[in-house]
Amino acid sequence: MAGIRALVAGNWKMYGVSDSLAMLDELASGLASGPTAACDVMLCPPSTLVAAAVARTKDTQVSVGGQDCHADVSGAHTGDISAEMLADAGAIAIIVGHSERRAEHGETDPQVRAKAEAAHRAGLTAIVCVGETEAERRAGQAVKVVSDQLDGSLPDAINAGNTVVAYEPVWAIGSGLTPTPEDVAEIHTVIRDNLIARYGDSGVDVRLLYGGSVKPANAVELMAVANVNGALVGGASLKAEDFLGIIAAFRS
Ligand code: 13P
Repeated sequence: MAGIRALVAGNWKMYGVSDSLAMLDELASGLASGPTAACDVMLCPPSTLVAAAVARTKDTQVSVGGQDCHADVSGAHTGDISAEMLADAGAIAIIVGHSERRAEHGETDPQVRAKAEAAHRAGLTAIVCVGETEAERRAGQAVKVVSDQLDGSLPDAINAGNTVVAYEPVWAIGSGLTPTPEDVAEIHTVIRDNLIARYGDSGVDVRLLYGGSVKPANAVELMAVANVNGALVGGASLKAEDFLGIIAAFRS
C-alpha cells in the first residue's frame, strides 16, 4: 500500500563462490548511477559468503541476509547456523520457510515459526515464505493453504520492522510461470487481511513480497499489483543486469 517502502531481495540459493561477489560491485555501482531506486535492496547469498558480502557492500545501498537458520542460539547441531551467527556475520535478515526448505527438509509451520522467532531474538528481520503447490492451486486450495501457513508460521508479535512475508507459489519458482496479476492480488489481499485481523495496526505496513519467476520483463506488471511491496528473486538475482532490471520497476 502507499507509504510502504518496497524491498527487492535476492535469494542466491545454493549458488555462488567467492568470485560471484563481483556481482555485488556491479549492483552497487548500478544503483549509485541513474535514477534513485525507491526500494531497499538485499541479497541473501549462501552462508559461506555472508560475511564477505557484508564487507563488500559496506557503504553501498545493498544489505545482506541469510537463507535459513536453526531455531536455537547454539548447540550440538552439526552443519546448522543460528540467527545469532548470521547477525554476527552482518546479516540483517533471514529467509525462513522457503518452499525448498519445506519440501526438501520437511520443515513444518511450527519449525518455520520457531526460526522466525529466532531471527527476531537475534534482532533480525524474518522473511517468512508461504505459497501453494500446483496441485493445491488446481484443487482451489491456494487461499486456504496460504492462510494456514501464515497462521502456523508467523510469531505472535510481528511488525513492519521485524517481519516480511513472501508469497511464492511453488509452481512459479524457477519455472518461468507466473500467476496472473489478478491471482497475485487475490492472495496478497488475503495475506494483508490476515495480518490486520491478527496483528491490528502492526499488520498494516508489513511488507508483502511476491516471488516466483520475477524477471525484468514482468517486474513492472507484478510490482504494480495491490499489496505487493517488492519481490523475492531467485535466478534473476544472480546477475547484476537482471537484478537491476527488476529494481528498475522502482526507479523513476
Ligand atoms: P526464481 O526467481 O528463480 O523463480 O526463484 C524464486 C525464489 O524461490 C526466491 O526465493
